[in-house]
Amino acid sequence: MASYDVIIIGAGPGGYVSAIRCAQLGLKTAIVEGRETLGGTCLNVGCIPSKALLHATHMLHEAEHNFTKMGLKGKSPSVDWKQMKSYKDEVIGQNTVGVEFLMKKNKIDWLKGWASIPAAGQVKVGEDTHQAKNIIIASGSVPSSLPGVEVDNDKGIVVDSTGALDLPKVPKKLVVIGAGVIGLELGSVYARLGSEVTVVEYLDAVCPGMDKDVQRGFKRILEKQGLTFIMGAAVQGVDASKTKAKVKYQPKKGGDEVVIDADVVLVATGRKPYADGLGLDALGVKLTERGQIATDAKWATNVPGIHAIGDVIEGPMLAHKAEDEGMAVAEVLAGKHGHVNYGVIPGVVYTTPEVATVGATEDALKAEGRKLNIGKFMFMGNGRAKAVHQGDGFVKIITDKETDRVLGCAIIGPGAGDLIHEICVAMEFGASAEDIALTCHAHPTFSEAVREAALACGDGAIHS
Ligand code: NAI
Repeated sequence: MASYDVIIIGAGPGGYVSAIRCAQLGLKTAIVEGRETLGGTCLNVGCIPSKALLHATHMLHEAEHNFTKMGLKGKSPSVDWKQMKSYKDEVIGQNTVGVEFLMKKNKIDWLKGWASIPAAGQVKVGEDTHQAKNIIIASGSVPSSLPGVEVDNDKGIVVDSTGALDLPKVPKKLVVIGAGVIGLELGSVYARLGSEVTVVEYLDAVCPGMDKDVQRGFKRILEKQGLTFIMGAAVQGVDASKTKAKVKYQPKKGGDEVVIDADVVLVATGRKPYADGLGLDALGVKLTERGQIATDAKWATNVPGIHAIGDVIEGPMLAHKAEDEGMAVAEVLAGKHGHVNYGVIPGVVYTTPEVATVGATEDALKAEGRKLNIGKFMFMGNGRAKAVHQGDGFVKIITDKETDRVLGCAIIGPGAGDLIHEICVAMEFGASAEDIALTCHAHPTFSEAVREAALACGDGAIHS
């Protein structure tokens, strides 16, 4: 059996990025993955496939709604769902093969199978037990279940995000449980494909954790796109037959239980850490109250030689957060100073328009009693956005009233998921809104809206 400096369990973005960094730093590295392909949830059944479907359906939306306005006439496209899914599968294939190439290039062994940890320093895969000076658990997360709701992705009536990416046909009526990131991204895919989409959400706002004005603006845009929302509704259960389902919910404000019909129900009520079969109990690895693996500031568990990163530990369940932790823990194991700034981790919802946030929210800072400046700029004032029919949304920059230092930002609008990184870099450098406002931004770009919001923190935006 081989002996390694590091064995990483799980080849999602956390695990495979960590493996590459370990190898780059001279550590003999192996990665264990039980799926047929590398890349984890993100590449196989998450971020990447959903982005393919979001792109394809956005193109359809453009053809249906904006082509004739721009003088593009002719037969409008119809949906070949089978072909759209093949396109998505091709995108997955290109990406997972790409990761396999990177493993080979960096001389990282792929131990194929599901791992367990019989003791610190050992990883068992199939019949083989390998030695490892250090183990990094990067086993990710799975959709969490909802009492009274049985998910069966094979039947395709009550599905989670994995099933929703591979439905046999486009449903006439789709009910989405949960107005979080997954529910809204996949809900908008099917709305554009012609499904009647109803989102049932327990809270009174979409996307928990965002500022109220962002939540309201985002919801309004999605409603304009045809999504219907039932807010303040706790789903109690789903009755499914072979072809249909009934979703039962209890309005929070009281009253009788309500039942709505659906052809397909998407359960998108959160994810939970996944570490099944690793043998953590027997090893005595401590968990948090929420079932995450407990780690210290250097991603070490309470068992010497065992580290953990990504969705299986605390913090937002985001691929890029896992990647950052993966690189940082590799540096720690190589004797360097791995670090992640948890205050500057962007979050993006890949609808059209995209919604991106970073740093603190206005609501949270005000609750702390902080004095703030808010600079807001609407995309309607941005020439480029108007030219491409994407004038909905705004940039909102939050700064400290005294120092003008940027504390957070939210963007709803075209390219928000890319624009937010200007703010991330600004925050990492401790920049003020004035620093951004004094930086020349090319015209005509969407990024001018970021500069305008920064100007609005001072003497005022120009185009509003
Ligand atoms: P979420 O936690 O974002 O949203 C779940 C929603 O379901 C909440 O608003 C909650 O109030 C609601 N809910 C829970 N129980 C309910 C009930 N019984 N009845 C009605 N509503 C109920 O979870 P989601 O969207 O499933 O995403 C899971 C994780 O995956 C998140 O951590 C998310 O950040 C991550 N993710 C991130 C993506 C991105 O960054 N673009 C894409 C996909 C997932």
